[in-house]
Amino acid sequence: MKIIAFVSAKGGTGRTTLVANLGVILARAGYRVLALDCDPQNALGTLLGMLPGLRVGIAEGSSSNEIIEYLAAQRGGVPYIPFGARDRDDLQQAESTLLADSGWLLRRVLEIVPTGTELVLVDTPAGERVWTERVLEMAHAIVGVHLPDAACFATLPVIAVILERRCRGSELPPVVWHVLNQMEPRNELARDAELLLRQHLGERLVPCSIPRDPVVGEAWAQQLPVALHSPMTGAVAALRELSERLLTSFADLRRHTATSLQPARES
Ligand SMILES: Nc1ncnc2c1ncn2[C@@H]1O[C@H](COP(=O)(O)OP(=O)(O)OP(=O)(O)O)[C@@H](O)[C@H]1O
Ligand SMILES: [Mg+2]
Repeated sequence: MKIIAFVSAKGGTGRTTLVANLGVILARAGYRVLALDCDPQNALGTLLGMLPGLRVGIAEGSSSNEIIEYLAAQRGGVPYIPFGARDRDDLQQAESTLLADSGWLLRRVLEIVPTGTELVLVDTPAGERVWTERVLEMAHAIVGVHLPDAACFATLPVIAVILERRCRGSELPPVVWHVLNQMEPRNELARDAELLLRQHLGERLVPCSIPRDPVVGEAWAQQLPVALHSPMTGAVAALRELSERLLTSFADLRRHTATSLQPARES
């Protein structure tokens, strides 16, 4: 099992959009993939068909059997585990556990992610939150999601600190990629921002920027990932290219999965 975390210092960059759509694309390509919401906003469910009225999630006390039943009832294009903990007391309790016990999230993932899952794509909150820190500790790959604007460029030092902390002293540092989302090639400011990001991130910034495409928002308004709503649109073509790049990082995925189910911190 490989865990891929999607992070950004700033909100609204497209982490949730990427997790949902890459999940759908990889599931359609035949991978056993699961989308996991580790953001207390619970936004991933609005794209992947959160089932109303059910208290299920990584931050709830849901058992693995409850999660399996929940996954079986879904029709969102990729199996997905919600965050849960919708009221403030539940969230505070989950965060206290997370702060006190650094191994809790990893144990929870191993408990509830179905056996045989090859890829877990994890949505995280923006900035330096304890959820993001714990997700990064167990991630095999990290994707930084950026917008082509000055505000996003200004947050690069924050991402650098987060990644440096994750990689420091690690025998098996994660693979790190950065992706530019909502690119507008005709906008001069966006082109300048892309250039600056390329200068700072080098080849870690994947060449296939994802275009700003109004269909992404239209699909979301219908509670659908754009990869299901409009599979032929430009943003989906770029997302497909991104999915292939992520897979090349795990070229031996199928072989590796057969012999090991250890997450990053234990392998
Ligand atoms: N490539 C794109 N083209 C057009 N709109 C996009 C694209 N990617 C994302 N969006 C839109 O941008 C908004 C933010 O996207 P999303 O919620 O995925 O970002 P996020 O980083 O998860 O935000 P948050 O910090 O709130 O969790 C949404 O309205 C989404 O529809
Ligand atoms: Mg989000």
